[in-house]
Amino acid sequence: MDSTGPLTGALLFWSHFWNKACILMGRLIIISNRLPFSLDREGDKLSIRQSSGGLVSAIKSYFESNTNKDQLSEKLWMGVADFPQEDWEQAVASHAFRQDFGIIPLYVDKDLYDNYYNGFSNSVLWPLFHYFSSLVEYESRFFDAYVRVNQQFADTLAPLLQPDDQVWIHDYQLMLLPHLLRQKKQDATIGFFLHIPFPSYEIFRLLPTEWKKSLLQGVMGADLIGFHTYDYVQHFLQSVKMLLGVESYFHNLQYQDRLVRIDLFPIGIDYNKFYQAASDPEVLDMCNKIRNNLEDKKIIFSVDRLDYTKGLSSRLNGFEYFLDRYPEWREKMVFILNIVPSRSSIPAYLERKKMIEEKIGTINGRFSTISWQPVIYRYNHLSFKELIALYQAADVALITPLRDGMNLVAKEYVASCASGRGVLILSELAGAASELSEAILVNPTDTADVASSITRALAMPLYEQRNRLALMQRRLQEYDVIKWVNDFMDQLTQVKQEQKKQQVKVLDDKALTTIRRHYLNAKNRCILLDYDGTLVPFTRLPSEASPDNAVRDMLSRLTSDARNHVIVISGRDLSSLDRWLGAMPLTLVAEHGASFKMRNGTWQQLVSVSDLWKDEIRRIMQLFVIRCAGSFIEEKTNTIAWHYRNTQTGLGFSRSRELLNTLSQLIQNTTLQVIDGNKVVEVRIAGFDKGATALKIVNEQDPDFVLCIGDDTTDEDMFKALEGEAYTIKVNNGASAAQYTILSQQQVLPLLNKLIAPLAEPQVQPLN
Ligand code: UDP
Ligand code: G6P
Repeated sequence: MDSTGPLTGALLFWSHFWNKACILMGRLIIISNRLPFSLDREGDKLSIRQSSGGLVSAIKSYFESNTNKDQLSEKLWMGVADFPQEDWEQAVASHAFRQDFGIIPLYVDKDLYDNYYNGFSNSVLWPLFHYFSSLVEYESRFFDAYVRVNQQFADTLAPLLQPDDQVWIHDYQLMLLPHLLRQKKQDATIGFFLHIPFPSYEIFRLLPTEWKKSLLQGVMGADLIGFHTYDYVQHFLQSVKMLLGVESYFHNLQYQDRLVRIDLFPIGIDYNKFYQAASDPEVLDMCNKIRNNLEDKKIIFSVDRLDYTKGLSSRLNGFEYFLDRYPEWREKMVFILNIVPSRSSIPAYLERKKMIEEKIGTINGRFSTISWQPVIYRYNHLSFKELIALYQAADVALITPLRDGMNLVAKEYVASCASGRGVLILSELAGAASELSEAILVNPTDTADVASSITRALAMPLYEQRNRLALMQRRLQEYDVIKWVNDFMDQLTQVKQEQKKQQVKVLDDKALTTIRRHYLNAKNRCILLDYDGTLVPFTRLPSEASPDNAVRDMLSRLTSDARNHVIVISGRDLSSLDRWLGAMPLTLVAEHGASFKMRNGTWQQLVSVSDLWKDEIRRIMQLFVIRCAGSFIEEKTNTIAWHYRNTQTGLGFSRSRELLNTLSQLIQNTTLQVIDGNKVVEVRIAGFDKGATALKIVNEQDPDFVLCIGDDTTDEDMFKALEGEAYTIKVNNGASAAQYTILSQQQVLPLLNKLIAPLAEPQVQPLN
């Protein structure tokens, strides 16, 4: 095992954690299967080794950065200890090693861990989510162990949680944990992030029903769920829709009376750390040594964990084809292939190692000369400085995974090319490809494509290398790991705030008395009533839901008071409303606002709309502005547009296809419309919503009392639009943006009765 030296200040002591845990608030608790380090013992001596992999790299960079230190009272990291408890206790007792984040190690029984980690995590979820379905081992003991370890995490964490803690659970090993934790701590703030791809529904559905439903329900225990790319978000939403029957609305889901948000957060790197390390004298020295040893031959470089998803065999095939097809490059370049040991007790990994080493032997056997060997192979962990020196020394980075959630190595390489020299060849199947479009993008299984990309990269003029790098570097700098964490945490806070707003109170006597007093003193009242499910109960056939005498009588009584302006606001078509209620002095709104008839007026069309929908569209378009230099956003009253006339030809077009695809999926079940214009992608209002309509009517009346009652999702638009201006009441329990809730439609008429009862009445009677 490689060691990066003694326990160099990496731990906060368990005892230290306990002392602080009791007094501090607002902690960020990271939960991942893997801790950021492992302890290695040699006799009496313990040494620390940083864990490999993108998840640890990213979170550790954030924890070690100085930014935002003041905003969190404490940072803690909980994960499975892959070292004995005695070693940890010895490390803690030695008092020599401290760092400003706490560690909560979890000790898991060895066999249980084996079935959970090597079994369900890495022989079921990992291969399936990376589209290697033939490698999946459907063993029920794996799933059982997965449930038990996730439960152990929940049992250990729940008693430690404090009210202001923000829990952020990471990755596929812990997909059940959000739900298990939520069961123990209803109000906990829980985020979940998946660092690997979420596969298409056709792949996900291969799992046995119990497993796949548990996984989705597990993740849905979180308040905010993050993925690296839009595709993964869409795949997840599709699976939730198909398996849990929950529809999304602008990436929000109403799940078991809780708002859950799903969004995209492409992970970044600590850009400055990599960019600045490139000028570290020790790194420069190492880099020069590498280059001198290779006598100024061009260097192709790659570093990956030993994993079948990384496309090592295909890469070597491509490289062999390159040597065959372009002999002029022989002896003028070398390929430094670094492989980092990973999951070596899983057969699929072990076999891969043998295969790769045989392939390297074949290539070197075929092409080596007395003074030159094409592949320099290392199977080892690299220290940070060694890694940067190699990034710097490399003329070309060849990163060709068959599937990769993101791939941080690609981003780190770009950031480390501070001199402006270096070419990235990147698989189009890595999540990073959607941000690093100036790389040479290849299909990793296309040997000829890989080979020709290598020649193209080796021969690329310096000015072109510089231009491409500069564009990618700017993007990586703009959305670095600090922004990534902050963005996620901000959204998590927002979701919690929205959930709080949704926690409506049951309308009790006290609240009713307040509303009633206000009503009786008001001179100009607006009363907005939804129709189906509010004024009348739902019926088998919509045409059967005509108003009965009680409803008619109530509406007559309400409208007979000249101070009342009563609006029936419905998704119903104009003709039904007109037939049933057209003769009464009511304002009628049909089809959520597309047509309306003011009291005693004639039917008309509405034109004005709310602007709320634009926020989400704008946020997506802004991502595309970052990803496509020269593009910009234009906002009009009812339209928001992304223009790409001034962008690099080809890039603008391909980005516009992605944007169209993303927006079309996003606006499903909404009243928006996407238009593919001439060098412009526009989103426009296709219809109207009750919120905008209600607001318009209320604003026109300038009332001193507004009451709004509804039961349905579309009524939520009204509740939101009238927030602060109206008493809003939702019929039926459940999360809502309304202020109050009543239990059933049968309570609506009694409620209105009580509202209009004469002042002389001594007391308001309870409902029912
Ligand atoms: N890395 C490492 N040890 C090494 C070489 C690399 O920890 O010896 C880091 C590398 O800097 C990168 C991460 O491992 O941050 C690999 O992340 P990536 O997203 O590329 O792939 P993953 O291993 O997560 O699948
Ligand atoms: C990927 C996964 C991480 C994992 C890492 C290293 O990045 O997304 O969750 O920690 O690989 O794998 P390992 O099995 O060693 O933790």
